[in-house]
Amino acid sequence: MAHCARKLRLALLLSGGGTNLQAMIDRSVAGTLSAEIVVVLSDRPGAFGLERAAKAKIPAFHVDYKAFLKHSPTELEKVELPVDLADLDRRQKIVKNPDPVERRARLARLVLAEHELIRIIDSYKPDYVCLAGFMRLVTPYFINHFNAGGLRILNVHPALLPCFPGQHGYEDTFEYGCKWGGVTVHFADEGEDTGPIIAQAVYPIWPDDDIDKIRRRGLSLEYEVYSQVLNWLAQGDVALKSAPGGGTRVVITDPNYAGILGGWVAAACRT
Ligand code: GAR
Repeated sequence: MAHCARKLRLALLLSGGGTNLQAMIDRSVAGTLSAEIVVVLSDRPGAFGLERAAKAKIPAFHVDYKAFLKHSPTELEKVELPVDLADLDRRQKIVKNPDPVERRARLARLVLAEHELIRIIDSYKPDYVCLAGFMRLVTPYFINHFNAGGLRILNVHPALLPCFPGQHGYEDTFEYGCKWGGVTVHFADEGEDTGPIIAQAVYPIWPDDDIDKIRRRGLSLEYEVYSQVLNWLAQGDVALKSAPGGGTRVVITDPNYAGILGGWVAAACRT
């Protein structure tokens, strides 16, 4: 393993149980993760992941999206947004409401929630923002804030992207009848579950499997892949190249890359 200069500082965003967070905490304590989670944020107050963070003595906050999304048009008129809403609307790909007034109002509410997230995250000066089960679409305002000087937002997705984006990766994979499922860790960009793929791993789907077995098998791979990606980033083993057709492609330069991928497949076939 290449020498790591220092541990990465991570801000982690979640919405629910936070088993990915727990896996990172455990690896960090065990000394196998070259990263430290400096702050955890959730889009809702009751997320169990916040309790996991508090137990590990990591500062934890919630930004109540439900409350932000209830802002009335009159309330919205009174606030000053940190972005040009018309410009944001032209660039964004996530809010699809055909009515421009409603679409922009929705965007404005999201931006206000994101502004609060950004305020908290920035105060902890993280190297990377890790989305780990954060079930909200983020606008270009959030993405550009962190990506302005280079790709700094990571996401874990429970499917082999670009297949099955969205919120139900395991269910969609299983219901389609796939014989292999997968998990993806990628840099986030302005699309939904798009952005340069850093690492993927696959698991078999056996004839007598059910969705719970699939999710368990997939989640244990998510923990491995996400931690490995963070270690690669800490070691400087993640290189970005321009793709021939435009866009950015990730190349992993770890000499043990093939061995690590082989290990993931072998482990997934045993569970
Ligand atoms: C994980 O399976 C993650 O891949 C998924 O939510 C789960 C969170 O689990 N994320 C998405 O579906 C994002 N589109 P956790 O809270 O136990 O870490």
